[in-house]
Amino acid sequence: MMLKRVLPMTKHLIAQTVEPGETVVDATAGNGNDTLFLAELVGEDGHVFAFDVQQAALDATSARLGTLNDRTTLLLESHDKVGQFVEGPIGGAMFNLGYLPYSDDLSIITKPKTTIQAIHTLLGLLKKGGIITISVYDGHEGGPEERDALLAYVKKLHQADVHVIRYELLNQRNNPPFLIALEKMKDFDVPTLVE
Ligand SMILES: C[S@@+](CC[C@H](N)C(=O)[O-])C[C@H]1O[C@@H](n2cnc3c(N)ncnc32)[C@H](O)[C@@H]1O
Repeated sequence: MMLKRVLPMTKHLIAQTVEPGETVVDATAGNGNDTLFLAELVGEDGHVFAFDVQQAALDATSARLGTLNDRTTLLLESHDKVGQFVEGPIGGAMFNLGYLPYSDDLSIITKPKTTIQAIHTLLGLLKKGGIITISVYDGHEGGPEERDALLAYVKKLHQADVHVIRYELLNQRNNPPFLIALEKMKDFDVPTLVE
């Protein structure tokens, strides 16, 4: 299939730029699908930092990782604190916004302020040529607000610093996710984020 669905497309883009041995970030570990993908991609000499605010998510991620836990650090922290735990350069980062699938509490969702702060900090840590992928879901309560704030933020990034794409399948039902991908074009000083 030439036109990949959104989640395979995120993995395709990340796989184009992440090298074995690099450090990468899963900003929303959830059930660990992306964490496992990243752990396999960076190989035994690389490292994945995976963030989630729910212990149940980290438990599910750890179970999915199996022996690959040894190349992963699971952090029960909000992703906007990434700068306190991760040193650059990083090879790439992935976000999968919204709530934890199959959770008892679907009210725990990613929020505009912390999502944007995390992306902003990660842009500073990212290697030149690195990619940040953000799978955006807007079908749940709070989703449209996060989507709009995120789009406003990424559109303001300078085109000489970061290339920004939006990728989506336009004829799918039931609020499918769309992808925002950021490619860092050069090293630049990331300014302090002001609201
Ligand atoms: C859509 S799920 C992620 C799915 C995951 N990529 C997977 O492969 O299963 C979104 C996750 O983001 C987490 N989350 C919400 N707010 C967060 C925050 N501020 N920092 C880190 N994770 C957060 C939720 O707990 C939830 O597990």
